[in-house]
Amino acid sequence: MLFELHKEDQSTKARKGILKTDHGNIETPIFMPVGTLGTVKAVKPEDLRDKIHAQIILGNAYHLYLRPGCDIIEEAGGLHRFMQWDGPILTDSGGYQIYSLSDNRELKEKGAHFKSHLDGSKHLFTPENVVEIQRVLGSDIMMLLDECPPYPCSYEYAKESMELTHRWAERGRKAFLDTESKYGHRQYQFGIIQGGTYEDLRKESTQFMTEQDFEGLAIGGLSVGEPAELMYEMADLNTDLMPAGKPRYLMGVGTPANLLHCVALGIDMFDCVMPTRNARNGQIFTRHGIINIRNAKWKNHHKVFDKEFPSDVSQKYTMSYLHHLFRNSELLGLELTSIHNLTFYLWLMEQMRKRIKDGTFSDWYAGMAEQVDQKI
Ligand code: GUN
Repeated sequence: MLFELHKEDQSTKARKGILKTDHGNIETPIFMPVGTLGTVKAVKPEDLRDKIHAQIILGNAYHLYLRPGCDIIEEAGGLHRFMQWDGPILTDSGGYQIYSLSDNRELKEKGAHFKSHLDGSKHLFTPENVVEIQRVLGSDIMMLLDECPPYPCSYEYAKESMELTHRWAERGRKAFLDTESKYGHRQYQFGIIQGGTYEDLRKESTQFMTEQDFEGLAIGGLSVGEPAELMYEMADLNTDLMPAGKPRYLMGVGTPANLLHCVALGIDMFDCVMPTRNARNGQIFTRHGIINIRNAKWKNHHKVFDKEFPSDVSQKYTMSYLHHLFRNSELLGLELTSIHNLTFYLWLMEQMRKRIKDGTFSDWYAGMAEQVDQKI
């Protein structure tokens, strides 16, 4: 069994559990740092483990297939060895990236035809070959090929797109069950619920994906520009119908406040580029709110930004120094803020797990969400 549910909160839908993979156990709820190209940008694998306490990271089949290519990763013995990360890895299928190519893609029954964003070369992803690609990558958890419809989109588009994702899901599941892991460790496959922002489609998709008996279920198609309240509404109705015994992954979400609200709705797993991408733009997430380190007001601020927070970046480097690094585009600035933001995200998830365990989550999370969302 991949997932064990250990505790359910009494007043919210928050839950605490554990995912057991051959590369290690993952305590849920969890945030997964994004390492699209086999690197969490600006962060070494040993810092991911020792400083950030990451328990699982994300890779992307679309990017890795295009460069360096599956042959190179297979020669290296899989993605874990290639990138020197021996903890669990989840890979996304590339459905979302192909959807982002808009003009350079065409969806057909067989699969998604697309032109590479690197050199314009033509490729076809099918539900079957994305399983094969992820077998080569050797990720512990692989995702199905899906289509993520844009927001807003018409009911007809969302319905047809969902039905295509469902047909691809049946083919993807079969391809998974007909093949084996290449490197001797177990791999699991997650289905992806779609349906746009339409209640009946979301319900139908949840039911359909549940029936396919994947090892876990993801909620896709959210955080694509819809208001946060609508995202919460959709996640809420999805988790109401998702089986309690399987892990629930909300794809591409989100801000620290989003994580708090969505854990309360019963989500177990998250990923988002925000902590690392925003770090590279000088945005620092803290317990007390969000800092823009490029702001001139930090130029003469010779204090650290949080003496009590367990990250050496927040305890050691002054705001003035970090500001200076960013004003000069120094690489160290990117590394320090990336490490700090991920440390903060993983710390926040740990706080949630502790509070679910000791029964104080429901009284705490909404106030905390407001606090971490403030601009400092
Ligand atoms: N990442 C964020 N949203 C999605 C989605 O809907 N599908 C996939 N495959 N990846 C995502």
